[in-house]
Amino acid sequence: MAKIIAISNQKGGVGKTTTSINLAAGLGYLKKKVLLVDFDPQGNATQGVMSKEDVNLSTYNLLLDHYKVEDIVHHLQAPPIDLLPANINLAGADLAMAKYQSGKELLLKKKLDEVRDKYDYIIIDCPPSLGLLNTNALTAADSVLIPVQCEYYALEGLTQLLLTIRLVQQLFNKNLEIEGVVLTMFDARTKLSVEVQQEVRKHFKNTVYNTHIPRNIRLSEAPSVSKSIFEYDIRCEGAKAYAELSAEVIKSNSGRRVKQ
Ligand SMILES: Nc1ncnc2c1ncn2[C@@H]1O[C@H](COP(=O)(O)OP(=O)(O)OP(=O)(O)O)[C@@H](O)[C@H]1O
Ligand SMILES: [Mg+2]
Repeated sequence: MAKIIAISNQKGGVGKTTTSINLAAGLGYLKKKVLLVDFDPQGNATQGVMSKEDVNLSTYNLLLDHYKVEDIVHHLQAPPIDLLPANINLAGADLAMAKYQSGKELLLKKKLDEVRDKYDYIIIDCPPSLGLLNTNALTAADSVLIPVQCEYYALEGLTQLLLTIRLVQQLFNKNLEIEGVVLTMFDARTKLSVEVQQEVRKHFKNTVYNTHIPRNIRLSEAPSVSKSIFEYDIRCEGAKAYAELSAEVIKSNSGRRVKQ
């Protein structure tokens, strides 16, 4: 049974997509069966692993039409993962979902539940907002992985995210957990990165992963050629960090996934 992890933070540009792609890829290379769900109309996770010209049906069709995961999924070789792509069409989903009287928060969950037994991990790349797309992702998920960028005001906005998580727990998904907090774009040479790390650890304690993702130019280059960091430059610091993060995620889930 897949563990469904939403990568979420309504703050833009904190490393959600970079983490979604490279965690999914890392888990794939560690022999886990992985489905990456692009749930952001920007389609960055999609473009990070395939050409957007090859996208026909998208997560919009999954949510709002009678398509199933198998109609939309792309089976990739490198990285060895499955992908549900997104494109700008998904921007219309909020409005289209509004016509539903009830159950609009459950649309993604219903579709993903049908394929849960085919995967070990389902990773959802969320958009930088707390709208209905994000609510659908949090309702479908078992847990939320929160990337926090090492910069000023890193914690700003997290209160809002935590409130949203609590609300989703109360209304739609009482079992939703925090999977972990990962520090991104970490630069050990700067006082700021170290201070942010201390601050985040003070708030989130052992929910914070031991692995930091360093600021690494190779991580920002890889998506331009639709490769995960493992095909682009397996020796770089970014690849090492995402391999470690993937192993940490597996380790923290081993033993507790039998119950589902
Ligand atoms: N560790 C890193 N080192 C260097 N650059 C990075 C790193 N992580 C992400 N980036 C770059 O920072 C930018 C923002 O990252 P990313 O797209 O992953 O963030 P995001 O949270 O998904 O953004 P959005 O909120 O727009 O969806 C991108 O250009 C990405 O290539
Ligand atoms: Mg993104």
